[in-house]
Amino acid sequence: EKGTYDHYMLKEINDQPAAMRKIIQEYQDEDENLKIDTEIIDQLKDSDRIYVIAAGTSYHAGLIGKEFFEKWAGVPTEVHVASEFVYNTPLLSEKPLFIFISQSGETADSRAVLVEIKKLGHKSLTVTNVPGSTLSREADQTLTLHAGPEIAVASTKAYTAQIAVLSILAQVAARELGKGTEINLMQELAKVTTAITAIIDDAPAIEQIVNEYLETTRNAFFIGRTMDYYVGLEGALKLKEISYIQAEGFAGGELKHGTIALIEENTPVFALATQEKVNLNIRGNAQEVEARGAKVCMVSMEGLNQEGDTYVIPRVHEMLTPLVSVVVYQFIAYYAALHRGNDVDKPRNLAKSVTVE
Ligand code: F6R
Repeated sequence: EKGTYDHYMLKEINDQPAAMRKIIQEYQDEDENLKIDTEIIDQLKDSDRIYVIAAGTSYHAGLIGKEFFEKWAGVPTEVHVASEFVYNTPLLSEKPLFIFISQSGETADSRAVLVEIKKLGHKSLTVTNVPGSTLSREADQTLTLHAGPEIAVASTKAYTAQIAVLSILAQVAARELGKGTEINLMQELAKVTTAITAIIDDAPAIEQIVNEYLETTRNAFFIGRTMDYYVGLEGALKLKEISYIQAEGFAGGELKHGTIALIEENTPVFALATQEKVNLNIRGNAQEVEARGAKVCMVSMEGLNQEGDTYVIPRVHEMLTPLVSVVVYQFIAYYAALHRGNDVDKPRNLAKSVTVE
């Protein structure tokens, strides 16, 4: 099934442009307008706050989704780690809508939340790659990712599919709520698809980055601000789970509040600069760690790039950059694991779907 690819993970990274095209196709009507079931939109319009519940990579996709729901649809949104929410439920609004994000639809921690909120009579929507899954069957509504089966334990195409589907949901909500924040999303997602393809074609250059930054290191840091901070969290998770390099993602501005003490001569720091508003800030943070000996790998976006940046991704809509920048981090994790001789698709201690709490 993995065909000519050495690993499922590599295949699934490469599947991403096709998954994007499939999503674009599935979520538009004959007139090429964005389309989401009316019941789902009605539920969303009817709620005063969204609670996103997820784990791991799906939680990281939820963080990006929050930006879409708040900035486009104007709906206040909280994102919660499922295993925490169950035992420490926050104060809920009057009319909450719960959105469960889960590739497998089988994550027990998320299901435990679903069971609880159903007892309270709250509405639920599951965003999943597996329509017949437990979370899909038990929630009021389902949105399907259409990413195709994901076999590798490290999630790649499900993350980008989750972000794409959440962007569509938030744009349709914005349209139906008359928010005046609509963009030509299908056109922008098509540009994203082209950009992802360009990075896939450029994989050998990313393997070189791994040779240069990660061959012997025990740890690595991922910094960014706003959306780039969230992508850094995902980059760090991907790297640690398959390469076993200790990796941490954090907000660039938090460095000086403690973490900078960990920077030593040659500590690799991956910095992401795709957001105009904080471009100079993150570059300032990169200089702070560089001055203390860090080896900074600056990944920026065309238009915001500066001389000396290590890698430049193609320009896409500023709200959609995570779909593209994460692909660089997926390849970094893949090659780091491969070069260390690890089992890329089946990292130690991990299972594809976590069906125990
Ligand atoms: C990381 C990874 C896990 C899952 C998490 C949630 O690469 O795969 O962190 O994202 O276990 O799984 P789902 O999305 O199936 O609920």
